[in-house]
Amino acid sequence: MKIKIEHQRLEVELGDRSYEISIGFGCRNTLTEQKANLQQDGRKIVALVDNGLSEGNPSFINEFVCDLPHLKIPSGEESKSSEWLCRGWDFLASNKIDRTSVIFVFGGGVSGDLGGFLAASYLRGIDFIQVPTTLLSMVDSSVGGKTGINLSAGKNLVGAFHQPSQVIIDLEVLKTLPPREFSAGMAEVIKYGMLGNASLYQKLVSLPQALSPEHPELSAIVHQCCLDKSRIVRDDEKESLIQGGRALLNLGHTFGHAIEATAGYGSYLHGEAVAIGLVCAYRLSCKLGLCENESENVLLELLARYNLPIELTSQLSLDRLLSAMMNDKKVHKGALRFVVMDKIGSSHVENSVDIEVISEILQSIGAR
Ligand code: GLY
Repeated sequence: MKIKIEHQRLEVELGDRSYEISIGFGCRNTLTEQKANLQQDGRKIVALVDNGLSEGNPSFINEFVCDLPHLKIPSGEESKSSEWLCRGWDFLASNKIDRTSVIFVFGGGVSGDLGGFLAASYLRGIDFIQVPTTLLSMVDSSVGGKTGINLSAGKNLVGAFHQPSQVIIDLEVLKTLPPREFSAGMAEVIKYGMLGNASLYQKLVSLPQALSPEHPELSAIVHQCCLDKSRIVRDDEKESLIQGGRALLNLGHTFGHAIEATAGYGSYLHGEAVAIGLVCAYRLSCKLGLCENESENVLLELLARYNLPIELTSQLSLDRLLSAMMNDKKVHKGALRFVVMDKIGSSHVENSVDIEVISEILQSIGAR
């Protein structure tokens, strides 16, 4: 699939599953051009569109989808469900999608994960193009081919690795993203700094003005996160390394997923739960004697700068949080595994962490 884009580009190098990420301001022409190219090749196109995007930024989306079969997905984790998966399959079937067809997926992590899994599963796999429209999906979920849905037993328990054919990031759309969503994305940006990129972390700490959709550094920072992620995915596409690799991207996520599942999907945005998870991951690292020279206050201030929660916003049951963790995909041979930091910018997987230590940390964020 060849296209012309005048943006920053980078390649996710995965052999015959390699693809390009393009990042820039304004990519409507690219999308239109790509659509025309595919249609000229006789390939049928359909689109999946996050409802929040179509309501919040109709001019971005309407022109593209007006003459295409498209399915609108309600915003929010509840749509990453078997119900919406079945609706998606029916939508593809009723539009006679074949193996040469392409799904364009517009939206954040929810529609990206659902749309990716539809593409992975329909006809045993068809092409899809990710057009992430939230900061969180731009820097994390649209890259790397993790697709799937949630079960009430836990987040992302059903899914597949299925790489997109392309990722097109138009930073312009962030200007109409609700500020709460932008902030949630910042949790994942901060995560990249904490897990493996100390200079990114320092940059975020020292920016005189908080990052925003208009900030001159935004493009470079999104590019850096995508670069960090693409390297990690290149080296460990299916998260099969026992140590290091893709698992490091889960920094803060074992805590965060448990918070989301226990509070009920939708109470916290994913990035908000991750923000609390990052605080927990930092505290766990300290309890294990790591992160000696790092300041908790610097992290708390950085998260607070983006209005991200640093503790539970209403009390959750400790037992329910612990049991949600035991259902997490990251449980290995019955043992809880956590990503911890040796210091800011360097992390590893800790394989067997004492449940008492985890309980103390959960209590420190308000669990009872
Ligand atoms: N969001 C974590 C990963 O893509 O592996």
